[in-house]
Amino acid sequence: MTPEIQTIVWLPEGIVRLLDQTRLPGEEVYIDCRDAEDVAEAIRNLRIRGAPAIGVAAGMGLSLGAQTLQATDVTSFLHELRTIKDLLAQTRPTARNLFWGLERIWTVAEKHRDLSIPALKQRLVEEAVKMHQEDLACNRAMGGHGQTLIKNGDTILTHCNTGALATVGYGTGLGVVRAAWEHGKHIQVLVDETRPVLQGARLTAWELVRLGIPSRLITDSMAGDFMRRGEVQAVIVGADRIALNGDVANKIGTYTLAVLCRHHNVPFYVAAPLSTVDPALSTGDQIPIEERPPEEITSIAGVSIAPQGFPVANPAFDVTPAGLVSAIITERGILHPPFAEAIQALCRSAHSS
Ligand code: MRU
Repeated sequence: MTPEIQTIVWLPEGIVRLLDQTRLPGEEVYIDCRDAEDVAEAIRNLRIRGAPAIGVAAGMGLSLGAQTLQATDVTSFLHELRTIKDLLAQTRPTARNLFWGLERIWTVAEKHRDLSIPALKQRLVEEAVKMHQEDLACNRAMGGHGQTLIKNGDTILTHCNTGALATVGYGTGLGVVRAAWEHGKHIQVLVDETRPVLQGARLTAWELVRLGIPSRLITDSMAGDFMRRGEVQAVIVGADRIALNGDVANKIGTYTLAVLCRHHNVPFYVAAPLSTVDPALSTGDQIPIEERPPEEITSIAGVSIAPQGFPVANPAFDVTPAGLVSAIITERGILHPPFAEAIQALCRSAHSS
């Protein structure tokens, strides 16, 4: 079995250690975050990225921030903790998991406000570690459900990075691919390079080498041609936020793939944990889309490729309407369209369990 990548871990001495994804695939460098600002910097600058991974990072960042507080009464403690929460909430706007991770730690802090400050701090560490463990279990469950959709001999096209690096381990979309492979299915993967940040070329390809799954890297613009030639049997992506009607925000380029899939009659699957569902949003139109720096478009690996100062648009995510999604794979099972009722029922049961 391939050893699990240590995307992010909580060290007992009160350090959050994470693999710096900006250095991959060239170098495997780990960075030690000692306070919430270190974690916020890592999220902001994509050292850790992928919705589930930043959800856990944000939760750990808040717990880490709690450890550094000097407050001696609980009211001041919660007040200062709220400031740290706000700092982490401003790092990236689209992935629902980030806010979910913060809320989870915050709720525990408020619920246990009667504890002594040292005991409360310890309780927050325990919650952060629990989030970490649950993410791995959740991804394995998703993989188990999702692999039933994959047939022996399929070629699967994937976008961005949805593997161990985008999560605590195993992955969402790539976790489904991995589970199919582990079930002995002879599959192949087409990896979209995923311009502009190249998560496919840099990160997914790196993971697939480790996993030993036969794969080829293509540019984003090649996907349609491969589908026209009948060389893609399924597209699997992850999600950054899912609205209650099943609209899905994911890495820019995902919507284009979904449209291509519809035209070529290829199933378009989304794999995401329930923590990606935003119970406050009825449709994808309400999902905030991150606009990233123009340099991501105007240069590649530090080399300028456009006229100096040329205007740029760089939305990091797009929204795929639920009507183009064939199925949503969650840790609780596979949802089929129409999604609204099934998503709402799952959210209700997740809240009550
Ligand atoms: O900008 P990123 O790299 O954080 O974007 C990540 C994605 O869009 C992933 O596809 C998404 O988070 C799902 S991954 C489990």
